Order: sequence, then structure tokens, then C-alpha cells
Amino acid sequence: MSTGTQAYGESWYWDNRYTNEPGPFDWYQKYITLAPIINLYVPLHQSILVVGSGNSAFSEGMVDEGGYKDVVNIDISSVVIDAMQKKYQDRPELKYLKMDVRDMSAFESESFGSVIDKGTLDSILCGNNSRQNATKMLEEIWRVLKNKGVYILVTYGAPQYRLRLLRESCSWTIKLHVIEKLAAEEKSDDPLWELTKPIPLNNDGSSAEETLGPNPDVHYIYICTKEISANTNV
Ligand SMILES: C[S@@+](CC[C@H](N)C(=O)[O-])C[C@H]1O[C@@H](n2cnc3c(N)ncnc32)[C@H](O)[C@@H]1O
Repeated sequence: MSTGTQAYGESWYWDNRYTNEPGPFDWYQKYITLAPIINLYVPLHQSILVVGSGNSAFSEGMVDEGGYKDVVNIDISSVVIDAMQKKYQDRPELKYLKMDVRDMSAFESESFGSVIDKGTLDSILCGNNSRQNATKMLEEIWRVLKNKGVYILVTYGAPQYRLRLLRESCSWTIKLHVIEKLAAEEKSDDPLWELTKPIPLNNDGSSAEETLGPNPDVHYIYICTKEISANTNV
């Protein structure tokens, strides 16, 4: 079996990894660096779903530092979910469930005000049948979101690689923000772009490169809003 990035779509890979590396570990960014954008788009008193939560301390940060009260976390790895359930057994604001983001039938439609994804769509896009799996994932996220709810996608994927996929899966209204990769380690005094200011976004996303220059050293944050207009079939 492959242990390259292709394995990132497979539960056995994550079970092995979490057995050997119990963490905590945050991919890309920690809560503290993303807090301004989370505060901007996620109201305090709503149910939040974190998909592919891993052993990250992000959700703990949302509760302890952000004041969020209801953060539901799912992951395909039973190893990490067992460990996180044990770790947070006395924290009713943090729930952990073993679930595949491609099939969240345990949740009713329109259950959550926000869904947060840091690195999980990226993992699924590394695996086999990536396009099909990504579409299933995005359709499920759309289904469990309330109308006007937001899907916050934190990814290394630039608009030329992510916009089409997002637009072809569901009719999201999309805004784009960026955060420097360095921000994960230290706060930059002179950021390339202000975190809370959306990047101008045209149809094919080329405006992002025009604004930031080629290959900027950033993580992309897509704010995808579910807006069901009166004449949309659901
Ligand atoms: C790159 S890690 C990101 C972990 C965490 N979100 C973070 O920011 O540190 C991707 C996570 O997605 C989970 N994952 C992969 N495929 C999944 C699926 N189909 N359903 C749910 N979780 C999945 C993995 O187990 C892993 O914990």
C-alpha cells in the first residue's frame, strides 16, 4: 500500500499516524492566528461542525479562547476520535464522533450554522477517486448547513485549483481571504494582505494572483456561504 500523499484519503493511514503521533498537532494554522476570521464569520451562539478534526487543538481554542459553546468534531479515524473523547470527556462544549464526511447521514439536514475544514478537503483530494469523493463531501457539507450558513475551508489550494471544484459541487457564494504560512509560527508585522479583508475574486480566480503575485506563501481561506434563493430547488 502506498504511504505517499495518496494515502491521506484512507482511514488506515490516519489510524496509523494517530497511533504513532498522538499530538496535539495543528495543520497549517492554529486557532490563535485564524481567530479574527472565525470571529468575523462564525456567530458565538451557533452549532459548529469541524470536519476531519484530527488531534488538533483548534476546537479547544474556539471554546477556551473564542467563547464558542457547541463545537461538534468528526473524523474518519477511530483512533483519534477515541483519544479526543477521552481527553475532552469533561468538556460538554466539545463533542467528538467517528464519522466519514462523505456520509453524514447521522446529522439531519440544516443542523449547523458553520462548518470548518482545515486540511480535510486537501487530504481527500490526495486520495483515490479524489474528484468524486470531494464532490460527495461538499454536497454533504451543503446539506448539513443551515441556509446562510458558512463553510470555511482552510487549504493550500490556490483559486485555480479550488474555485471550480467548489462552484461545480454546490451554488456557494464565495469570498476569499489569505493568511501567510509564516503566521502559523509568528505574527508578521507587515502581512502581505490583511487577514480580514477579502481578496478581489473574479470568475477564474486569476485576480488573486494579480493581487498577491505569483505563488504567494499563503494559506487560502474560502468562505463559502449557502444561500438558497426563493427560486432554487433544494
Ligand atoms: C490534514 S489532517 C487535518 C487535521 C486537522 N483538521 C488540523 O487542522 O490539524 C486531515 C484529517 O482529515 C481526516 N479525514 C480524512 N478523510 C476523512 C473523511 N473521509 N471523513 C472524515 N475525516 C477524514 C483525517 O483522519 C485527518 O484527521
